[in-house]
Amino acid sequence: MTTPPFRSIPLAAPDIGPEEMRLVQEALQSQRLASGPMLVRFEEAFANRFGARFAVGVSNGTAALHLAMIAAGVHDGDLVVTTPFSFIASANAILYERGIPIFVDVDPETLTIDPAKSLQVIDDIVYRKAGWRRLLPRNCNPTSAQLRAIVPIHIFGRPAQMKEIVDRAHAHQIAVIEDACEAIGAESDGVFAGRWGDASAFGFYPNKQITTGEGGMLLTDNEEWARLFRSLRNQGRATDEQWFRHDRLGFNYRLDELSAALGLAQFSRLDELLARREAVANRYSALLEEVDGATPLAAPRAGMRLSWFLYPVRLAEDLDRDQMIAALEKQGIMSRPYFWPIHLQPFYRERFGFQPGDFPHSEAAGHSLLSLPMFPGLTSDEIEWIVSVVADEIKRARRDRRGVAAARS
Ligand SMILES: Cc1ncc(COP(=O)(O)O)c(C=O)c1O
Repeated sequence: MTTPPFRSIPLAAPDIGPEEMRLVQEALQSQRLASGPMLVRFEEAFANRFGARFAVGVSNGTAALHLAMIAAGVHDGDLVVTTPFSFIASANAILYERGIPIFVDVDPETLTIDPAKSLQVIDDIVYRKAGWRRLLPRNCNPTSAQLRAIVPIHIFGRPAQMKEIVDRAHAHQIAVIEDACEAIGAESDGVFAGRWGDASAFGFYPNKQITTGEGGMLLTDNEEWARLFRSLRNQGRATDEQWFRHDRLGFNYRLDELSAALGLAQFSRLDELLARREAVANRYSALLEEVDGATPLAAPRAGMRLSWFLYPVRLAEDLDRDQMIAALEKQGIMSRPYFWPIHLQPFYRERFGFQPGDFPHSEAAGHSLLSLPMFPGLTSDEIEWIVSVVADEIKRARRDRRGVAAARS
């Protein structure tokens, strides 16, 4: 094979249609480029669709998580439970308020926070059970160490198991903040991801199911929190929006009108975009059934609807992921490891003293997962082509290894 038969295939690509063009143009022509009606429309549509009392648009998903940490009352040395198997922003948001992440490993199948371990950790900390301090990162010895929040992550658009966690957290007045940045429209047991907790964060980076360029959204039913979010995103402005009166330390986390217009148009197409992503995932899964060595993640359990974000496969242990990435790249196909666990990021190791082996399921996933291209415009032929390149590379790697073994014996 010399030249790839298809265009080069990115990992992700937004799907921008005529409605997006129309609404962005409308925003441009209005000359109101910030703090205007597009944001209000986007927020209203978002809140209505998910049955929330309030939606607050912000500049990105990280900002949404940060504001949720403030609302949850996270201060110096407070503890926040979450998992290390995520994008780094999930944990960074805790650090912005000088909180301490208490990582709980993921379930190895679902890759979402292990519910039984979470309940145990909550109880151990709240009741100060013997040895609870072993849950703290090595380099931390906080004095008050109040547990303020738990942040389950709906990773790859796969809903975390929430019910028991929410019940236990609320029994102890601990806030539940959902990181739904990768999971817009995902559902479990009739509840949308982002509707279990006290607040939830969504992100609209261009690799996401809907995009605003950069952008994010908070959902909450708590009126006081919604007011706080609106104030904090706007430089801490007084909640009655008085001209240049600032009641608290705030940020510029506003979502501009062009982004909101794009988001409104994308959001109106959510069902279509999710259905097309699901079709891509189904095609991958069907084709990969024939491929030994690259295994799709577990199918969703009954009552669960995924919102397909990436398409990760687990590579068998005998395969070299970097070689696979290189083989795909050679054919113009982009693929990437997802995620290198947060606790092993250099900054987290240095600051908190985390070590390899601390969270083995997250580490195993981090070692073996490879994300293949996933976006609505990926054609059936392209998916077939990608899977054939994966299958060929597996065969080649195994044949080479057998050759080396035979030469040695
Ligand atoms: C799980 C998770 N949390 C948080 C974020 C942060 O969102 P953003 O990039 O919009 O700041 C992302 C986005 O990449 C994410 O995937």
